[in-house]
Formats: sequence, structure tokens, C-alpha cells
Amino acid sequence: MMSESVSKEMVLAALRKVQEPELHKDLISLNMIENLEISGDRVYFKIILTTPACPLKSRIESEARSAVLSIPGVKIVDIKMDSRVPSDGRSRGLMQLPIRNAVAIASGKGGVGKSTVAVNVAVALAQAGARVGLLDADIYGPNIPTMMGVETLPLPTKEKLIPAEAYCVKLMSIGFLVKPDQPLIWRGPMLHSAIRQLLSDVEWGELDYLIVDLPPGTGDAALSLTQSLPLSGGVIVTLPQQVSLEDARRGMEMFRQLNVPILGVVENMSYLELPDGSRMDIFGTGGGQQLAKEGNVPFLGTIPMDAKVRTGGDNGRPVIVEYPNSPAALALRCIAEVIAAKISMAALENHTTIPITILD
Ligand SMILES: Nc1ncnc2c1ncn2[C@@H]1O[C@H](COP(=O)(O)OP(=O)(O)OP(=O)(O)O)[C@@H](O)[C@H]1O
Ligand SMILES: [Mg+2]
Repeated sequence: MMSESVSKEMVLAALRKVQEPELHKDLISLNMIENLEISGDRVYFKIILTTPACPLKSRIESEARSAVLSIPGVKIVDIKMDSRVPSDGRSRGLMQLPIRNAVAIASGKGGVGKSTVAVNVAVALAQAGARVGLLDADIYGPNIPTMMGVETLPLPTKEKLIPAEAYCVKLMSIGFLVKPDQPLIWRGPMLHSAIRQLLSDVEWGELDYLIVDLPPGTGDAALSLTQSLPLSGGVIVTLPQQVSLEDARRGMEMFRQLNVPILGVVENMSYLELPDGSRMDIFGTGGGQQLAKEGNVPFLGTIPMDAKVRTGGDNGRPVIVEYPNSPAALALRCIAEVIAAKISMAALENHTTIPITILD
């Protein structure tokens, strides 16, 4: 048989039957196929995902491949996987920063692992290939420089501060601008302008995701942040136990009042894995799920307790870099992927089409 019979229409029809498992639409309706070329029995195209951190990347690729291979006359399907992170259109905000999606990590309570989640999620997204910034908005106790193993900023330009960079993540913190032991006491207006400056006076460049580490509590920093930069979403970190949940509820209420969509709840320090493989529930169980359920928001996952998480934070080598296959790192990577997927879904709901030039 002559292979001329394979047409673009046939390929498009085949790909129309392949669903994006999370967005629940087919690849053609989602404008995910680009650069379709057919030569003889070979078909080439690109699949443009809505995030490089797509957990279902290989499944989408293999389903697209088998759909096209089932067309009579097609022998080779050459697929290039690529991504373009959509913006939900909220994050550009008043300052017109080229930041597609900003996500704040919060909790009502201190010490539950906000900064740990922020750091590891940021690095995971960057490892997947996204352009990521990490803003330490904890202006009372900035920990991000230590946790990322960076002490100083590069020299600024005349107009702007240049963010530091570690593990392919751009980071900015008030910790770079004050002496280590200087107490950080802020009056309301100063705090507001400090947060604004960390956004507007910094050469962030184009970012797919800006992860923002908030200070504990439900205070002014979050308010200043949302006034400066509309957030795509907020993530609540909690421990499994009841007292932590009470605080986390306040964190959730804070996002509601600030009109920030809640992406979901992360439960940290969920259990300790003992040498015999059994699990010890130090802080109780199920609190995170319970909180997500009562707040009617997604549950994003649990992170086990692991000394490697703490040493990673103290040494400036996040667990996701130092022990990428440890259970804690796997959990954190999975949470990063779920967050990316939730952002893609929200962007898609807000804009029914992703602006992509289609075939030919
Ligand atoms: N899953 C974990 N296993 C072991 N240690 C952890 C885990 N998560 C966080 N830690 C450690 O607990 C401490 C508190 O975590 P972290 O600084 O991330 O919390 P935080 O909520 O940002 O605190 P703060 O409210 O003070 O900003 C850190 O020393 C960190 O390394
Ligand atoms: Mg912190």
C-alpha cells in the first residue's frame, strides 16, 4: 500500500480520541499538538503539556503514540514532549511582573514545615524544567537562604536587585539584605513596602512559578503579598494533630478572606518509618485529610518525618537534591506535581483556550 494515504485529518482524528487525564479533554481540543508533519509512513508532532512537571507525561505520550500507530499506513511515530505553562491571568497584577503563577505556602502555626515544602517544591518544579522563583516572605525569620545554601546576592544592577540562584531556582529573601543577628521588627507600612520591594525591585525575569514562603500566622505579610501580586493559589501545611489543625483552619480562612484560591492541604511529619518498615504515627493520623475534607479543598499529600529532611534544610542541600529517592523526597516531588496540575486546571478553567498557534 502507498503511504500517501496518511493525512493530517486522520492523525488529528486519532489524537482527538486521546484524553489529557487530568484536564479531562482531548489533546486536540486542548491545543496540545503542534508542528504535525507526515512524511511517508512517519508522523512527527510535538505535545505541549501545561507543565513540565506533569506526572502523566509518559502516559499521555504512549497513548498518543498508540492512537497514531493504529492508523493504517503509519509505521513510525516521532513525538517531542514540550511544555508551556499557562497563566491564570491573576498573577501579573498591578506590578506587571512576568510571573505566570504565584503560589503561597502558609500555615496558621510555626514550625510545621512551610519553608521545607516551599524549598523542595520549588526545586522539584525546576528539576522538571520549569522556570521557578522562590520568594522568602518570612521577613521576621527568613530561613530560605540557609535552606538553599546561599549566603549572598549577586551584585545588583543600577535599577534592580539580582536574585540569587541555587538548584536552578531564583531566590530572594530579606535575609540577604540584613545582618544575620539583626532583629527584624517591622511596622505595618515598612513591612508592606519590604514585601513589595522583594517583588518589584528584583529582576525576576520570566517565571512559570513563583513559590512564596509565608511567615507563620495569618498576618500582615500575606495581606501585603496579595495586594502586590494576585496569587494563583495557596497551599496550607499542617501536622496531623488536632492543635495544628486549629491553626491550619485559620490559615485556610486567611486565604478565603484574601480571595486566594486554596490549592489544597499538605500534611507534614505524618509518620516515622521504623527500621523494620512499620510506621509510627508521632503526631496522630489523618488530620490533613480531615482538614481538606471539612474545608472542601483537595488533599495534596503526606510527607513522612525523616531526619534527612532536617539535615538537608540545615546544610542547604534540600532532601529532594541530596536524597532524591528517599520517601520524603518522593512525597515532596509528588506534591509539586499535584500543585502544578492544580494550577494548570485552574488556568484552563479561567481561560477556555490555551493560546497556541495550531498546525501549519
Ligand atoms: N518531614 C520532616 N521530617 C523531619 N524534619 C522536618 C520535616 N519537615 C520539616 N522538618 C524540620 O522541622 C523544622 C521546621 O521546618 P520549617 O522551617 O520548614 O517549618 P516552618 O513552618 O517554615 O517554620 P516557621 O514557622 O518557623 O517558618 C526544620 O528544622 C525542618 O528541617
Ligand atoms: Mg519558615
